[in-house]
Amino acid sequence: MSKPHVYPRWLFMEIKEITALELDTEKFIQEKTKEISSIVGDGTAINALSGGVDSSVVTLLGHKALGSRLKTFFINNGIMRKGEPEKIAGIFEKLGVKVEVIDARKKFFNAFKGVTDPEKKREAVTQTFYKDVFGKLVKESGAKHLLQGTILTDVDETVAGIKRQHNVFEQLGIDPKKEFGYKIIEPVVQLRKDGVRKLGKALGLPESIYNRMPFPGPALAARVIGEVTPKKIEIVREATAIVEEELESIKAFQYMAILHEDKVTGMRDGKRDFGLQIELRCWESLDARTAKPTRLPYETLEKIAGRLTKEIPGVVSVTYNITPKPPSTIEAV
Ligand code: XMP
Repeated sequence: MSKPHVYPRWLFMEIKEITALELDTEKFIQEKTKEISSIVGDGTAINALSGGVDSSVVTLLGHKALGSRLKTFFINNGIMRKGEPEKIAGIFEKLGVKVEVIDARKKFFNAFKGVTDPEKKREAVTQTFYKDVFGKLVKESGAKHLLQGTILTDVDETVAGIKRQHNVFEQLGIDPKKEFGYKIIEPVVQLRKDGVRKLGKALGLPESIYNRMPFPGPALAARVIGEVTPKKIEIVREATAIVEEELESIKAFQYMAILHEDKVTGMRDGKRDFGLQIELRCWESLDARTAKPTRLPYETLEKIAGRLTKEIPGVVSVTYNITPKPPSTIEAV
């Protein structure tokens, strides 16, 4: 018999939205730190920091409330952008927050072996994170409280059936009924992204974090068509670094490099080279529900194509996506 679903508390609650305009950051920080420390009491709490805005804000709020009684982990899944684990741990260290980086690269790449279907790839990331890595850390830590960066849009999308079920304990492999005492604390559940960004600024996060462009949970695995391997991730990671460097000054919603599975014939050093294709995407959007490709200057496109083909061995073709969402999606997987 399959396990009955234990739905998260917030699905049944009336959550009172606080708009970015209404948000009094000082008051909110005071109230939430008080609330977190009264819930946790003398105990300890745990959280996973991804480097995105939501988990970064929650990490700082939690540390303001609990100090070293909040244990923060950064899971290196091997599919992050260039230098990301060191960069994020470094930023938080400067803010006085100790972050423990867990090297889980092998576990994630094992889970990707032979998986080519986009949804199964996403599932491999989710399962490995919750069951194999973070779930174990939660149990071993002895912490009974888990801080999560759920925002109101996540709740809406779960209710509407857009997002996969957001039942964290079940995903962690913990049965709250059997192992009584686990509690999830979601301090920013009344806010939307613009409110979280405002809060991040007030908490003293650097702008490179509170104004960060969206990045998908499945990370660079969402930007490799076909099976995800360490070699392919290395290529798309280099390509992403080049694209982000070249488009940084363009005020676009999101931009990315995608590594295609099909190879194409090219020429290198006067010889035929059956090589790799990179697709470039750059989007204008307000909320990611619809999006239009940015009309990038041709010179910019040429410069990026030049760098990608010169700096990444094996790349012989660069294309630019000119299809809006819908029917395209922002990511390629
Ligand atoms: P799509 O590709 O669906 O993306 O048009 C819409 C926005 O969501 C981001 N995205 C994700 N974010 N987990 C996330 O946290 C995911 O699995 C995921 N997939 C897509 C994407 O980067 C874009 O901003």
